[in-house]
Amino acid sequence: MTRRATFLRSMAMIALVAAAATACTTGTQRMVGTGDVVVDRQRVMKLQGALFADIQDKYKAGNIAGIAVDAEALSITALQIPSLFPEGSLTEKSKVKPEAWQRWPEFEASAKNLAIWSERLRDASKDKDDKAVADIMKDFGRVACGSCHTPFRVPPPRTS
Ligand code: HEC
Repeated sequence: MTRRATFLRSMAMIALVAAAATACTTGTQRMVGTGDVVVDRQRVMKLQGALFADIQDKYKAGNIAGIAVDAEALSITALQIPSLFPEGSLTEKSKVKPEAWQRWPEFEASAKNLAIWSERLRDASKDKDDKAVADIMKDFGRVACGSCHTPFRVPPPRTS
């Protein structure tokens, strides 16, 4: 390789590394916020609860195509989950278990998993594929939500 080619190569590398660094910084910046991250994430989670309830209602009513918009909103909010859990944000109002930070890669993977499941549900709903939607709905609550709540959230008090 000529010296010039080597030089161009290293310049390209530097540009790549810089781009990756920028992407990382942007990824950890929060997009919305009241200044109280616990309030913000509980608000997002309440919305996720409402979206999932809406999905279940539409599913029961046979409104398969109507599920897509909720599933898309779930997948976008799922992508925001990791940035709403900065280290050291465990207050007495929060229901997060310290394990979330001790096993952070697992927590992040669980948020990503919700995004993937939501996208699958969105696409199956858009395609009006009743069978695919039924297959996803069968496991969604347990696999997409419960797989994070069980290890990482203090269970809410039983109401019944
Ligand atoms: C990656 C982890 C993760 C995933 C995935 C996840 N949750 Fe949560 N959820 C949490 C944590 C942690 C809390 C407690 C947050 C706190 O109190 O600071 C929570 C809290 C909640 C709450 C209570 C909010 C409040 O304070 O009133 C609801 C409702 C909820 N989640 C619904 C859902 C639903 C529905 C799904 C799936 C569609 C889901 N969550 C997926 C981690 C997750």
